[in-house]
Amino acid sequence: MKAIVLCAGRGTRLRPLTHTSAKHLIPVANKAVLTYSLEAIKRAGIDEIGLIVNPSNIEDFKREYGSGESLGLRIEYILQEEPKGLAHAVAISHDFLGEESFLMYLGDNLLEEELKGFVDEFLSNGSDASILLAPVENPSRFGIATLSKGRVTKVVEKPKKPESNLALIGVYLFTNKIFEGIENIKPSWRGELEITDAIEYLIEHGYNVTAHIVYGWWKDTGMPEDIIEANRRVLIGIKESFIGGSIDEKSKIEGTVIIGEGSQIVSSVIRGPVIIGKKSTIENCYVGPFTSIGDNVILNNCEVENSILLRDSHISDIMMRIDASLIGRNVRIRGTHSKPAALKVILGDYSQAEIHMISP
Ligand code: DAU
Repeated sequence: MKAIVLCAGRGTRLRPLTHTSAKHLIPVANKAVLTYSLEAIKRAGIDEIGLIVNPSNIEDFKREYGSGESLGLRIEYILQEEPKGLAHAVAISHDFLGEESFLMYLGDNLLEEELKGFVDEFLSNGSDASILLAPVENPSRFGIATLSKGRVTKVVEKPKKPESNLALIGVYLFTNKIFEGIENIKPSWRGELEITDAIEYLIEHGYNVTAHIVYGWWKDTGMPEDIIEANRRVLIGIKESFIGGSIDEKSKIEGTVIIGEGSQIVSSVIRGPVIIGKKSTIENCYVGPFTSIGDNVILNNCEVENSILLRDSHISDIMMRIDASLIGRNVRIRGTHSKPAALKVILGDYSQAEIHMISP
């Protein structure tokens, strides 16, 4: 079986980070979000992957994964010139997929449950299509399915009045019947060929569409707060510490902590779960739980917690704790006592900053 992984969206909600890299490559616990999914697909027994990318992010993916060898995969890049919808992405992958059944995975989703059970169930139950569902609190934000006696009886994309709270979480298994569905649908109100409409076509034409409900954690990592939550979940799962760098005698390490080679911890408290990359220096700092720090970062005189700091950034002399923050590559943040006492920033387009105001 082959898989297609869809990564051709624009990632506007994660700007400015997505100005310089695809959102799927933002690191969570120092590993690209997408790598977790590719590894899960591999564990499900699938090693041929078509990665659907767009003209502006294709090089980012090629740089990260090449032909997929380092993950034990064969990756082929399928260019979708414009994000014309999930069903459009499937249609342009027809040559790559051939007529065999396949797995489709939305590249910005992350889930805890292994995919193998879902794939095995699909291969043995003779269904024409199968979808992964999970109960959600805000069904209007998702594709929503209605079930009856184990079969899917209806799917609707982002319904205003949802009939159930079971959302499609972006993992699908299809036989080649889905191509018939796609040929028979029209673009939706948002101008996209919706995969939910193609699935609805299968249901209406008597094909057997089944579902598998996931009760474990999963996340659509489209927003900064989702990435920070995903980071927390992954760090919680790290069971063993690894100290590759040096820690001086004035420092204190608590809980599960990974410190990469060549990193130095000086006069600091690191309270896990925390991961620190290679060649980073942390001096006179508190690094609190759920923090991921990339390679080559310098932290001086500051406190960080529940945050992601990407590689090559320098942060020094900040009196306030940095919390729930997502800081990109090569960022400089520096506290000063010089006059005027003003905020001085150079923020990229679509940056966000929240400044705590001390009451008069
Ligand atoms: O997160 C689950 C939801 O994902 C489902 O409940 C919905 O039924 C499904 O339509 C989808 O909705 P989104 O609005 O979240 O889809 P989004 O536009 O964010 O695209 C999801 C992924 O697919 C993302 O990695 C970008 C990629 N994509 C998207 C489009 C529209 C493509 O590769 N090509 C496309 O044309």
